[in-house]
Amino acid sequence: MIKTQPSTTSSTSVRRISVSLDRNPYDVVINSGGLDQLGAELLRVGISPKTKILVVSNPDVATPYAGRCLSSLNNAAFEPILLTIPSGEDQKTLHTFSKILDAAKENGLERQSLMLALGGGVVGDMTGFAASCWLRGIGVVQVPTTLLAMVDAAIGGKTGVNHPGGKNLIGAFHQPKLVMIDPDTLQTLPLREFGAGLAEVIKYGVIGDPDLFELLERCESLSDPAMISMSLLETILERSAKAKALVVAADEKEGGQRAILNYGHTFGHVVETLTGYGTWLHGEAVAIGMVAVAALAVERGLLSQCDADRQTRLIRKAGLPTQWPDLNPDSVLNTLQGDKKVRDGRIRFVLPSRIGAVSIVDDVSGDEIRSCLASMH
Ligand code: NAD
Ligand code: GLY
Repeated sequence: MIKTQPSTTSSTSVRRISVSLDRNPYDVVINSGGLDQLGAELLRVGISPKTKILVVSNPDVATPYAGRCLSSLNNAAFEPILLTIPSGEDQKTLHTFSKILDAAKENGLERQSLMLALGGGVVGDMTGFAASCWLRGIGVVQVPTTLLAMVDAAIGGKTGVNHPGGKNLIGAFHQPKLVMIDPDTLQTLPLREFGAGLAEVIKYGVIGDPDLFELLERCESLSDPAMISMSLLETILERSAKAKALVVAADEKEGGQRAILNYGHTFGHVVETLTGYGTWLHGEAVAIGMVAVAALAVERGLLSQCDADRQTRLIRKAGLPTQWPDLNPDSVLNTLQGDKKVRDGRIRFVLPSRIGAVSIVDDVSGDEIRSCLASMH
């Protein structure tokens, strides 16, 4: 459980970031205490009073927050219904997805109705996917409650569930009508989950926001969220949301540039798969993946050792792992070949050239990968 310091100013302001898509643009709103303003925000974005809203959550989140969420919606004359689904990545299945659709049927959700995800990335991805399918697509609102979902999963419209053969293999792009981030909900988030979210924040620094990276470097402590003031936390959330919004607006369906958001994920996915899902949290595996891919970039002469070291130091400071696990190199290469990011048999890597700049390459050889991973021990 984390305790961020209250803001040193008397009140923190509401921050709004626009995801400027040509069709259906939307806002990411960052507002401490915003859970109580949810109904008013929905009215503001044009949702009609009386709209039926299926609120999907899990027990970890519903217990502390569903009451406030439902009251806020009721106060704005919406008709919310709460559905609680089990917690955990292993529940991100077609079975749970169909439970959400069952609730949509039982409660008579119509074309104008909404689904609202109140939870982390698992709840968000599944609810978004259910909304994309129900009646061939109804609106969805994302109310993320983990750091990872606030800075990444809730923004950008990727939704889906896992297939027994792989993570997120079933899904759709379905942009939300609104993303409402209430940083206060992080107060109940387990510490380890907070750290996992920081990996994605560091990612945004490396792929395009050197100021964000430096801001994190200057923080007294990252592994102890009690040392992070609310205004600093909101700034971190805002810069991360802006970074994601820019990339998504430029390439909504990952035709090209959006792939830079996968920085650290190619090796991270290998770590998750080969160490067994659950050994490392997604963000922790991404942290290890970022260190590995920086080593690859150094070996290619693309990145300075100094910048690679800065990244490693920051990842450590966030309390995240940096050590490549002891994995069989053949299994690593096989797993890389099975990744969603492979195109025409060529593995695509996002390589950093400095803090704040990356490029996508698909000419990394198996030998280079072996040599780089061997050098990490
Ligand atoms: P999660 O949703 O599993 O949440 C982590 C844990 O924290 C869960 O046990 C959850 O119940 C609990 N929790 C959530 N909020 C809490 C709170 N405020 N207080 C107490 N407990 C709380 O994990 P996550 O890291 O948020 O999301 C991971 C998922 O997101 C993965 O399935 C991943 O594939 C997906 N993802 C999607 C995208 C995307 O673009 N759609 C991007 C990144 C990750
Ligand atoms: N999390 C990667 C993306 O949204 O594209």
